[in-house]
Amino acid sequence: MNKEEIYVWLQEVRHPAKEDKSIVELGMVSSVDAADGSIRVTLAFPGRPDPLKNYLVGATQACLYRHAPGGTDISVDSIVKDPAKPAPKGLQFNLEQLREVRHIIGIASGKGGVGKSTVAVNLAVALAKQGFRVGLADADVYGPSVPTMTGTEGVTIEMVGPDEEHSLFVPVEKYGVKWLSVGHVSGAGQALIWRGPMASTALKQIILQTQWGPLDFLLIDMPPGTGDIHISLIGDIPMTGAVIVTTPQEVALADVLRGVNMFRNPQVNKPIYGLVENMAWFTPADHPDEKYYLFGRDGGVRMASELDIPLLGQIPLVQGIREGADAGTPVALSADRPDAQAFAELARRLAAAV
Ligand SMILES: Nc1ncnc2c1ncn2[C@@H]1O[C@H](COP(=O)(O)OP(=O)(O)OP(=O)(O)O)[C@@H](O)[C@H]1O
Ligand SMILES: [Mg+2]
Repeated sequence: MNKEEIYVWLQEVRHPAKEDKSIVELGMVSSVDAADGSIRVTLAFPGRPDPLKNYLVGATQACLYRHAPGGTDISVDSIVKDPAKPAPKGLQFNLEQLREVRHIIGIASGKGGVGKSTVAVNLAVALAKQGFRVGLADADVYGPSVPTMTGTEGVTIEMVGPDEEHSLFVPVEKYGVKWLSVGHVSGAGQALIWRGPMASTALKQIILQTQWGPLDFLLIDMPPGTGDIHISLIGDIPMTGAVIVTTPQEVALADVLRGVNMFRNPQVNKPIYGLVENMAWFTPADHPDEKYYLFGRDGGVRMASELDIPLLGQIPLVQGIREGADAGTPVALSADRPDAQAFAELARRLAAAV
């Protein structure tokens, strides 16, 4: 448990008399301490009596009990003071920077490690090779991998704008794609990004406080899983729709269903363009014509038909894809390899579906 995680949990506690805003947003969380097996949270109430004080303290306790591992020692106190200042003006986001972006597509998965970032990066490169204007925002605050996969780790992200509060990130251009990752901006000298303690603020900055310019596609590599951070992301970013990445195993169906439901829930109701079956079969480097179905055959095909979404593509498990990711040179850059063609085909189908 770290503080950032706890701040994310606390966003569930809403103040019913203040437009249902969260106690985090209202600046009422005065301090959070998390040490081995214990969490202490102090809520700050303004000088005048708040009839909902006991309710909010109780709701905060309940929220922590819901999320913290069993046996955690939890205490919530309250103090009286002026609430911490809400986010400065510059952090009140608007959608201005997305004005010239035609399609915003979330790349999601029900669970981690299925190759979501690999697919997102190669899909971006493949779309760019087909002449589309493409950007990719790496919204994985917990494990941003786009800088490594594109060989852009350590680059200095430029900022433009009249002053610090109104400045914008300039994405890194490489391989014909505009990239920006939480990993690019959380380095030294880029304090702006973590000024708000919440991971979801960082995400919104990556997407909304960036000079994307005109794009046909902005892909968003979403963090793995289907938690609060996703809900907040889907709520705040006007996504056009989503692509769900999975591996073919039978057991992955429940995860994929969770991913799909995130977008299908009536309040969100965004189209899912399709499923990408990654690691659909294994092909050894020295036997490019062979296919071994390590995780079972056609799992992705069955899942897609059970969930009633199109199967957008099947990507093989090949050593070159992993090597390309580690070296920062996505395989989709090469012309004739079968794995590069799989990404090119995926890009064509996605563009047609959108
Ligand atoms: N088709 C593939 N063939 C070979 N290796 C792959 C393939 N897809 C992904 N990998 C490798 O698997 C690992 C996990 O992939 P990746 O980081 O893209 O997954 P992810 O779903 O984004 O993970 P996370 O949930 O941590 O964000 C990486 O080392 C990547 O290079
Ligand atoms: Mg990833």
